[in-house]
Amino acid sequence: DPEIISNPNEITALVNKTHQIPEDYIPNDLVEVIDSHQKLRKEAALAYNEFYQAAKQKGITCYAISGYRTNEMQTLYWKRQVAINGEEYASQYSAYPLRSEHQLGLAIDVSYQLTGDRLTCKVASSEIGKFIISDGYKYGFILRYPEDKIAITNYGYEPWHMRYVGKELAKKLYESQMTLEEYVKENHV
Ligand code: DAL
Ligand code: ZN
Repeated sequence: DPEIISNPNEITALVNKTHQIPEDYIPNDLVEVIDSHQKLRKEAALAYNEFYQAAKQKGITCYAISGYRTNEMQTLYWKRQVAINGEEYASQYSAYPLRSEHQLGLAIDVSYQLTGDRLTCKVASSEIGKFIISDGYKYGFILRYPEDKIAITNYGYEPWHMRYVGKELAKKLYESQMTLEEYVKENHV
């Protein structure tokens, strides 16, 4: 059974298949991000807005597809994935309710287009996909589910899922090429 985390308000909180959010947790500082109705916690939203502007200055468009999700929304996403693709596939790309970083208000899925199949492996080769990897850390974001860490994160490659952890930790993870799981284990936090 997953452990229920005691620090859902911390920017660096670990949430995954074995660490879940308390049932009654709702972030209290959600705001809309730039050019979108998607929401993140205030600190993460301000960081996203800077990231978005930096991308824009380079001529790169960034579309916010999915930010904060309520438990009801995550439940709906999960059930829909299971209904369409079966539980085994669903569990590679969708988190079980209360086990999604989107419910922390610290994760946002972005794409190079606003319509059609927005969250596919094509994001990886798009300009915004590359910008997440090269520059995301400068704004406090990490690419949470890299292609070469599937065995550690227990999720498939998601070139679109950005997680805000703050600039300090993002830089550390960028430089060491560590996932949040590896960092937490190594530092006993
Ligand atoms: N797609 C990620 C794992 C989520 O649902 O939070
Ligand atoms: Zn996501």
